[in-house]
Amino acid sequence: MAAEDLIAPSILSANFAKLGEEVDNVLAAGADIVHFDVMDNHYVPNLTIGPLICEALRKHGVTAPIDVHLMVKPVDRIVPDFAQAGASYITFHPEASEHVDRTLQLIHNEGCKAGLVFNPATPLSYLEYVMDKVDMVLLMSVNPGFGGQSFIPSALDKLREVRQMIDASGREIRLEIDGGVKVDNIAEIKAAGADTFVSGSGIFGKGQDNDPNRYDTIIGKMREALGSVGS
Ligand code: DX5
Ligand code: ZN
Repeated sequence: MAAEDLIAPSILSANFAKLGEEVDNVLAAGADIVHFDVMDNHYVPNLTIGPLICEALRKHGVTAPIDVHLMVKPVDRIVPDFAQAGASYITFHPEASEHVDRTLQLIHNEGCKAGLVFNPATPLSYLEYVMDKVDMVLLMSVNPGFGGQSFIPSALDKLREVRQMIDASGREIRLEIDGGVKVDNIAEIKAAGADTFVSGSGIFGKGQDNDPNRYDTIIGKMREALGSVGS
């Protein structure tokens, strides 16, 4: 049985020149958690934001969970900095850590929830011995590094597989999907087992900048589509 649906706007597609306001606006429009993409121009070919920005959002007054998606290698050095900066979830790619179990423990010891992220071609076998140590599984439905790419359909089968593993574990583990999520495919993504939906360009990239209700409209449509799927 899937948990309550959470909509997680990826701020990668927000206007960084007014990031605090953008985050306030999507949360006021009904978003649940803030998806925070960290890229290092090493593990992925792009460079984004670090702990200082996470801390700045907290100081700005953001109280919603911040879901830090680390696309960095190595992983461990930066984990305490993000915990200190106010991260709620910290997820990482298992290929980027030499010691996956140790990194999961480190994240927990720092007081955050921990998760593993799977690229489209990364096997789920990394989960086998750490199911008891993850609070979230994040499936990438694009190759990491950039917003605005198209959803890779094989992620749906992978979602179904992980949903079964989570249900069999009996643990409360979030199943998050990231990449190419829009109003028109979010229902089938939920039907395949996801309960946490990252959307960057699908939320921030559309509509007129001068329409004050644009986030209400898009998040409202996503909720409606999610509501059409029985859980
Ligand atoms: C990609 C990032 C995603 C990205 C999603 O590496 O992890 O979170 O922002 O963007 P969209 O929703 O535009 O595919
Ligand atoms: Zn992401």
